[in-house]
Amino acid sequence: MNLGAFTLLLALISGASGQYYDDYDFPLSMYGQLSPNCAPECNCPASYPSAMYCDELKLKSVPMVPPGIKYLYLRHNQIDHIDEKAFENVTDLQWLILDHNLLESSKLKGIFSKLKQLKKLHINYNNLTESVGPLPKSLEDLQLTHNKITKLGSFDGLVNLTFIHLQHNQLKDISASFKGLKSLEYLDLSFNQLTKLPSGLPTSLLTLYLDNNKISNIPDEYFKRFKGLQYLRLSHNELADSGIPGNSFNVSSLLELDLSYNKLKNIPTVSENLENYYLEVNQLEKLEVKSFCKILGPLSYSKIKHLRLDGNRNITQTSLPPNMYECLRVANEITIT
Ligand SMILES: *[C@@H]1O[C@H](CO)[C@@H](O)[C@H](O)[C@H]1NC(C)=O
Ligand SMILES: *[C@@H]1O[C@H](CO)[C@@H](O)[C@H](O)[C@H]1NC(C)=O
Ligand SMILES: *[C@@H]1O[C@H](CO)[C@@H](O)[C@H](O)[C@H]1NC(C)=O
Ligand SMILES: *[C@@H]1O[C@H](CO)[C@@H](O)[C@H](O)[C@H]1NC(C)=O
Ligand SMILES: *[C@@H]1O[C@H](CO)[C@@H](O)[C@H](O)[C@H]1NC(C)=O
Repeated sequence: MNLGAFTLLLALISGASGQYYDDYDFPLSMYGQLSPNCAPECNCPASYPSAMYCDELKLKSVPMVPPGIKYLYLRHNQIDHIDEKAFENVTDLQWLILDHNLLESSKLKGIFSKLKQLKKLHINYNNLTESVGPLPKSLEDLQLTHNKITKLGSFDGLVNLTFIHLQHNQLKDISASFKGLKSLEYLDLSFNQLTKLPSGLPTSLLTLYLDNNKISNIPDEYFKRFKGLQYLRLSHNELADSGIPGNSFNVSSLLELDLSYNKLKNIPTVSENLENYYLEVNQLEKLEVKSFCKILGPLSYSKIKHLRLDGNRNITQTSLPPNMYECLRVANEITIT
């Protein structure tokens, strides 16, 4: 907004609702442009004065960032480099949001490690080819989706890193990059080119998304180590029965398992605690109670609420075994064909 528009708006406000203006002493600094603590081209709302918004301004570089700013938004610009000194007055920056720019990995060396309070770093939709680093140990949330990342560096010492989003990149192989991330709860590696499951993932994971890769087998006992894993997606991979050892998905903490769009002929055994099971578009030949219930009894039944079996031509309503509903006692949606 330019100053003319601002004056007009102020006139409208004081004319139309003068009462409000008098009662609440409408602050001039509500409009960032007039505040001394904001870059002139950006906006720092009065209600959120430590945030600076510089979105959609066709910026080619990071504007002046005054001391006191903790949350910096630079989305939808044309930033293709960051000066070494860009953040010299805001080394206590907490959030840095750089989505939709033209940043390349080689232009970001050593930029972030000086930001000792940084918690959130988002560089989605850029031109990264490697993960960025080194990163400050304070980091909690890292998003690098929709880039062209083929290589991950080490995330060494990032003890508070809880969320990592790496979906829509070109990762083929991940060897031990995640070791030591003892707070990691959420990892999204979907839409990459992984041919095998990464080794050395932290056991603290609650959510693991690996859908839309090229994974064809699961190492024996792979998921057993994750004592709290609740959400696991492996849809759109190349899983066939031969690549799945017997109890791979019998993990008692799992609530949701997505194995849709693979090449399974048999239904992998799951724990009775599972609530959502997605198996659509496979090559399933039969449905057996033992995939869901080891034994049947008054207190022994599957907790499955949603079961998807559609897109498996040989699974029909009549192919369901008669005692299926004794096992799937609390299912409220079973989708067939
Ligand atoms: C940091 O603050 C100093 C002193 O006000 C100023 O000269 C310098 O340009 C600022 N740096 C940036 C990158 O904004
Ligand atoms: C950056 O990415 C955009 C969009 O993917 C692409 O059009 C452009 O050519 C890339 N630039 C460079 C320098 O790689
Ligand atoms: C990690 O988080 C805890 C709790 O918020 C905090 O006390 C600690 O200083 C953080 N560690 C680092 C390295 O920032
Ligand atoms: C499905 O059943 C038909 C015969 O009913 C059989 O010819 C075919 O091989 C079966 N397909 C699969 C994927 O099991
Ligand atoms: C799943 O594993 C548990 C032990 O971890 C075992 O007791 C149970 O029988 C297994 N379930 C099936 C259906 O094999």
